[in-house]
Amino acid sequence: MLGLCHLLPEPCHKVIERNADPEVTLLNFLRKNLRLTGTKYACGRGGCGACTVMVSKHDPVSAKIRHFSITACLVPICSLYGAAVTTVEGIGSINTRLHPVQERIARSHGTQCGFCTPGMVMSMYTLLRNHLQPSEEQLMEALGGNLCRCTGYRPILASGRTFCVESTDCQKKRTGKCCLDLGGNDSSSLSRESDICTDLFVEEEFQPLDPTQELIFPPELLRMAKNPEKQTLTFHGERVTWISPGTLKDLLELKAKHPEAPLILGNTSLGPAMKSQGRVHPILLSPARISELSMVFKTSDGLTIGAGCSLAQVKDILAEQVSELPEEKTQTYRALLKHLKSLAGQQIRNMASLGGHVISRHCYSDLNPILVVGNATLNVISEEGTRQIPLNDHFLAGLASADLKPEEILESVYIPHSQKWEFVSAFRQAQCQQNALADVSAGMRVILEEATDTIKELSLSYGGVGESTIGAHKSCQQLIGRPWNEPMLEEACRLLLEEVSLPGWAPGGRVEFKRTLVVSFFFKFYLEVLQELKKLVKVSDSHHYPEISDRFLSALEDFPVTGPRGVQRYQSVDSHQSLQDPVGRPIMHLSGLKHATGEAIFCDDIPMVDRELFMVLVTSTKAHAKIISIDLSEALELPGVVDVITAEDIPGTNGAEDDKLLAVDEVLCVGQIICAVVAETDVQAKRAIEKIKITYKDLEPIIFTINDAIKHNSFLCPEKKLEQGNIEEAFEKVDQIVEGEVHVGGQEHFYMETQRVIVIPKAEDKELDIYVSTQDPAHVQKTVSSTLNIPINRITCHVKRVGGGFGGKVGRPAVFGAIAAVGAIKTGRPIRLVLDREDDMLITGGRHPLFGKYKVGFMNNGRIKALDIECFINGGCTLDDSEQVTEFLILKLENAYKIRNLRFRGRACMTNLPSNTAFRGFGFPQGTLITESCITAVAAKCGLLPEEIREKNMYKTIDKTIYKQAFSPETLIRCWNECLDKSSFHSRRIQVEEFNKKNYWKKKGIAIIPMKFSVGFAATSYHQAAALVHIYTDGSVLVTHGGNELGQGIHTKMLQVASRELKLPMSYMHICETSTATVPNTIATAASIGSDVNGKAVQNACQILLKRLEPIIKKNPGGTWEDWIEAAFEQRISLSATGYFRGYKADMDWEKGEGDPFPYYVYGAACSEVEIDCLTGAHKKIRTDIIMDACCSLNPAIDIGQVEGSFIQGMGLYTTEELKYSPEGVLYSRGPDEYKIPTITDVPEEFNVSLLPSSQTPLTIYSSKGLGESGMFLGSSVFFAITDAVAAACKERDIVEDFIVKSPATPEQVRMACADRFTEMIPRDDPQTFKPWSIPIA
Ligand SMILES: Cc1cc2nc3c(=O)[nH]c(=O)nc-3n(C[C@H](O)[C@H](O)[C@H](O)COP(=O)(O)OP(=O)(O)OC[C@H]3O[C@@H](n4cnc5c(N)ncnc54)[C@H](O)[C@@H]3O)c2cc1C
Ligand code: FES
Ligand code: FES
Repeated sequence: MLGLCHLLPEPCHKVIERNADPEVTLLNFLRKNLRLTGTKYACGRGGCGACTVMVSKHDPVSAKIRHFSITACLVPICSLYGAAVTTVEGIGSINTRLHPVQERIARSHGTQCGFCTPGMVMSMYTLLRNHLQPSEEQLMEALGGNLCRCTGYRPILASGRTFCVESTDCQKKRTGKCCLDLGGNDSSSLSRESDICTDLFVEEEFQPLDPTQELIFPPELLRMAKNPEKQTLTFHGERVTWISPGTLKDLLELKAKHPEAPLILGNTSLGPAMKSQGRVHPILLSPARISELSMVFKTSDGLTIGAGCSLAQVKDILAEQVSELPEEKTQTYRALLKHLKSLAGQQIRNMASLGGHVISRHCYSDLNPILVVGNATLNVISEEGTRQIPLNDHFLAGLASADLKPEEILESVYIPHSQKWEFVSAFRQAQCQQNALADVSAGMRVILEEATDTIKELSLSYGGVGESTIGAHKSCQQLIGRPWNEPMLEEACRLLLEEVSLPGWAPGGRVEFKRTLVVSFFFKFYLEVLQELKKLVKVSDSHHYPEISDRFLSALEDFPVTGPRGVQRYQSVDSHQSLQDPVGRPIMHLSGLKHATGEAIFCDDIPMVDRELFMVLVTSTKAHAKIISIDLSEALELPGVVDVITAEDIPGTNGAEDDKLLAVDEVLCVGQIICAVVAETDVQAKRAIEKIKITYKDLEPIIFTINDAIKHNSFLCPEKKLEQGNIEEAFEKVDQIVEGEVHVGGQEHFYMETQRVIVIPKAEDKELDIYVSTQDPAHVQKTVSSTLNIPINRITCHVKRVGGGFGGKVGRPAVFGAIAAVGAIKTGRPIRLVLDREDDMLITGGRHPLFGKYKVGFMNNGRIKALDIECFINGGCTLDDSEQVTEFLILKLENAYKIRNLRFRGRACMTNLPSNTAFRGFGFPQGTLITESCITAVAAKCGLLPEEIREKNMYKTIDKTIYKQAFSPETLIRCWNECLDKSSFHSRRIQVEEFNKKNYWKKKGIAIIPMKFSVGFAATSYHQAAALVHIYTDGSVLVTHGGNELGQGIHTKMLQVASRELKLPMSYMHICETSTATVPNTIATAASIGSDVNGKAVQNACQILLKRLEPIIKKNPGGTWEDWIEAAFEQRISLSATGYFRGYKADMDWEKGEGDPFPYYVYGAACSEVEIDCLTGAHKKIRTDIIMDACCSLNPAIDIGQVEGSFIQGMGLYTTEELKYSPEGVLYSRGPDEYKIPTITDVPEEFNVSLLPSSQTPLTIYSSKGLGESGMFLGSSVFFAITDAVAAACKERDIVEDFIVKSPATPEQVRMACADRFTEMIPRDDPQTFKPWSIPIA
């Protein structure tokens, strides 16, 4: 029996599952068996938090109920025996009562696409079940394991903060500067405006949190827990048996009987391994009910913690010890605590056990290196009795002599107290501060002879630099007896680099970085010990220790995790605007509350349709090869497998000649789709793909890198070029010339909802209904039509909402839709296709990596006279959008600068990688990084500051762009000046310089970046839009338009428009979905222009309707809306209208290099300040100020959300998101573990966003502007702040700048750029002598 508890629709729902399958996870059980689809699938590996639910259990040791968050995708249902599970549906509903967490996250605008929202809600809810008024630190900790790709986290945190102890809407009170205090010395126009708002929601309107309303722990489960059954429970699945003994004796007996069977605790190690390796353990032993494994014993010399304790419990136990014992005894505990704060997210820490962590022996383990140096001992037990094993390298390397015997289990871990003159420290460096596996982790411990600096004992242990945790025994041995001083440090580094060696080809790559960290960490330890000794000197004054100069002290501090603060400013609506008119007001996202309760239906939440089949794609494992044979026989014989769809099954066109839906004869990249299995269930389909045998013959050439593509002249389309002035002549007249290179890595969309589609064939006339997560349903419809060879009018595509798109759901969904449609037609049954995260990342491509070369000529005063940029993007194996991306890149390269002599050239390279595609910003974020890098290069050469060069070369007056489109830069300059002003840029520049003078190991950097972003598609036909508005006889209004709801709030904005036009409250209106049957021939919702053009169409439809109603209204001015509609119906006036917008004129003549490609520009500026740790490459974002020209925002909450979300996404592009490819062209980064999008702890500590007031644009709907993409590039302000800090370090170290810029500025890049004695020490490899683990493709 499995006790599950949730709340919908009954107050508490008991679930009895007598045939629980050990292979079924809670996530699948909730979604499929219970039809509770609020809990989402986004990664399946515990790395994103979308599937977070709360588990409540009675803890036999403390006799209390424990509530904790978990990721349902890793929890086998069998592990939940006797547990209560609360899902998002259980805590509130829009139909009954909303939980305050749900209400506040929605009303604080903390939801955009809403796919992450249920997970966020459940993390916050669990926190509140444990702490009614949490601290901010607890809030950050609770949300650290939840990813959001849309919002930029700030509003989510703002909603959580309303529950916190220090909750206050004044976000700068802590710093003493009140955000509402807009006057004062601030002279900017923003602050002078009296009509500036800073509130996006009204906290006072929120319902209070009432703990008496919460669910109680089911009494039945409590009774069970208090009188635990001792008998062994067994659950048999098809392939796996789950055995859960009730006593330790039984467990040991079972372990003796099944020595190969693993113990399953948190399943956070076993689960992902079974999934990725397809490994099946026929028997799993669950010790969850064995209380002996959860015991904690405190003795006078140490602490024994049960192996079954979760890491979260271990954290609490250690924290208690630290508060109880003197500091000298808790050195090891403190070190463990430090890492327990950043190890994974809260959910994983709640699930993962200490025993599982130790026994898993992951090479990246954060805790094992500390436990090793802390001399921890493993207490193991079997039927034979107990014994102790030292937790040392031999054990961690899995040496049989030092390991557990197969019949033994780990009962507990003993961690001794430290003693006086003993110092223990922990270090780790990962791609980002939190929720990321460490590149290198380390535990270090030294014992000095009492009151001296002589080393008595030394232990150094490293993770991440070998197959297991590695100890540097030899080095430590040789250092015993040495004084703790500089010569010892020097010698230690030399010895360490010899002993902890890492080959150039080591898995995981980043080899030189890791080598550097090995010694950098030791240097930090060296300083930390000296610092501690300084404190002790007061007690024992007999010895003098080396002094650390103040400038070097900065090596010691770690960057703390702080919740972001900030202000959002926008212009309030005119005081004369009618209260009913919602335009310009921060209206909540229409689906916000449904997102928060899990009631918003996404594609895969649609219930199974009768006779539905599941489809899984089979992809190429070769980068360029001929397909010799495909053997489907074994797969077809498996139970449940219905068919395998190949290219031969396609009745119509198989995609384009050079971009096939299903491969024929030849494959062009790893990840290319070859065929697709359809089976009764997803599990059966996934098992079948393993059995398909494809043989290949390798073909030449195989090209992955831009460099190779250039060498092979492998391009997807002709060069795009723009030129003005006389570049050659200008270069001859300038004072100086610099040449440089810029490499920008690609980016994965990482929309939280992976690609999914459901195709339902109808019985009549070859009709098909397609439910698809797409930005472009008309494209899906068209592609399916040509693939099936049936007219478009038989196919209806429906899009209710999309869980994030960012460009990745413009082109690709048509491929999945078409393949699924072939399957549906062939089998005559509905097909569901839901990509796993791994497949989605492998197959779909992303942002184009870029390589750019520039030559810039300038005068000594910084005036740029000539700029020549040539860039190449890695397009992958097919054309897709690469030609347009190249065009946009070239058109937008000049950014905000007027340079008389310019030449921009761009080409898209054809390589054997998955095809890259549209991504927010469409080339602009990559290309413009070259332009801005030129600016910093010029500044460095002129000895001026980059902001001076930027200002000097910016457009100043009405002018023409390189493609001769006229524009006025007035708003650009206003944004720039406001940003300088609002960020107090100049005074902070001085403070940064002061800081840098005083600190050698930490450097600050600051940068301000202007932006001119062109909106739209560069083609008039792509700017057309249509809408269909019906008024029904009860007065309710149904609005339909051609835009898709991707989270950007387009439906909310459209109802705001309709509400203004019809002069009717939004409550009368509804949008059901986007459908090709209601509004045909739509354009992709992209290019920042969706709300703009569809708004015009909705306006047009509403105006037509109002015009028809006018005579009736005139006749009965005192009547109600309902009266008028009734009268109109009586008078046979049509209450349905199509609105149409013909589109903004836009054209570009590439022959002439002239045109008016864009309807308008969005201007903006961002200033960011960071601090870097030169020893580790880590950085902290101190502050960001953004000024964005939204003109008259239709909805400031939504627009600020777009700015913040795209900024954080841009920041990810430029700092943490790194795609790694093998030398064979296989993408390694296929999930949140390997690919790091920003988490909540990456948001700048102070994050201010202002929409520029009093700006007008007559062209657009109510003078608003589209802000979907532009903020992305402003994320580069963080990149340039980092490079500014690195430049300060390099200057101090006399390193000559080489003008090679690499994005993202990962810790690896930063650390290696800040060269010092440690980077000089490390061995360097000759790249010709080994095959690297990964290759750079940009
Ligand atoms: C998303 C994610 C992020 C992570 N991030 C980090 C990180 O930042 N740093 C880090 O160090 N780790 C990280 N981890 C790894 C995590 O710490 C380990 O997976 C976890 O500690 C394993 O514990 P478990 O209880 O889940 O083990 P399980 O998966 O249940 O078991 C793992 C293994 O241990 C054995 N075992 C368990 N208990 C016993 C016992 N008592 N006696 C004998 N054998 C036993 C099992 O037989 C099994 O082979 C992360 C994991 C995930 C999923
Ligand atoms: S889906 Fe479970 S954590 Fe991502
Ligand atoms: S709102 Fe968080 S992922 Fe879309």
